[in-house]
Amino acid sequence: MKRFANKLIAITGAAGGMGLAFARHFATEGAALILTDVDKAGLAEAAAVLTKEGARCSTHLVDLAVESELHKFAAEIAGQHERVDVLVNNAGLAYGEVAFSFESLSQAQWLRFLSVNTVAPLLLAQALRAPLARAKGVVLNVSSMAANVPATAYGVTKAALNAMTYGMASVFGNDGIRVNAIAPGLMETPAARGNLPTETYQRIQSQQMLKVHGTADDIAALGVFLASDEARFITAEIISCDAGNRLRGWRG
Ligand SMILES: NC(=O)c1ccc[n+]([C@@H]2O[C@H](COP(=O)([O-])OP(=O)(O)OC[C@H]3O[C@@H](n4cnc5c(N)ncnc54)[C@H](O)[C@@H]3O)[C@@H](O)[C@H]2O)c1
Repeated sequence: MKRFANKLIAITGAAGGMGLAFARHFATEGAALILTDVDKAGLAEAAAVLTKEGARCSTHLVDLAVESELHKFAAEIAGQHERVDVLVNNAGLAYGEVAFSFESLSQAQWLRFLSVNTVAPLLLAQALRAPLARAKGVVLNVSSMAANVPATAYGVTKAALNAMTYGMASVFGNDGIRVNAIAPGLMETPAARGNLPTETYQRIQSQQMLKVHGTADDIAALGVFLASDEARFITAEIISCDAGNRLRGWRG
């Protein structure tokens, strides 16, 4: 029997990269998928690939920075499904000014990054709380090793997401919902490859304790374990998957 047969998994940021890897791994374990992203073309392409591979999925265009869109999506899902077994809060803003300009961001920029990376995971879980509670479900927040690195706005949003994870686990635990975060190191995704100059990519990778190559599949496999019954006693944890990189830093 597959571990996620008859289970429903909602994944944000599912248009590619890690979101697509989560979708593949859960589908392989028998799950049906609810895929969301703000990237319409990417989402359609991901769904087409997954469907061809035999996955059952629906797609939903949602901008997580817009609270009304987030609530509309959650209401639609809650109206259609008695239970949601897993919510993977994978969407995130990771590159450009959020990665560097710690000192010069405007309040509006700070609030946008925080709203997508930190607040949306809570708002979405709260909006899906009833179907998650019926399933005694699981929330996975995708954080980052950058939470441990000084002076990037990105790191601040992910450090705040770690604290948010503890708070969510405490409150949602009352409904039997487990909440954990995964903190990836440098994982090869199109976004990471496309946004980091080769020199930066190699420098970050060279600081790993293990000289191995991180992939989106490493994160998705961990996510499947954390969402499974084998992890039923694990909540309020930030689980690193970074080949030891967080202890050495990545800014050089
Ligand atoms: N790749 C890495 O090395 C790495 C390392 C640590 C953490 N992460 C985290 O993993 C997650 C996935 O990263 P990835 O490498 O696959 O990058 P990615 O950019 O491909 O994935 C992020 C997804 O979030 C979506 N998104 C962005 N803003 C949104 C919004 N307002 N509403 C809805 N969706 C929105 C994007 O369209 C994209 O599909 C992110 O949270 C990222 O911060 C990645």
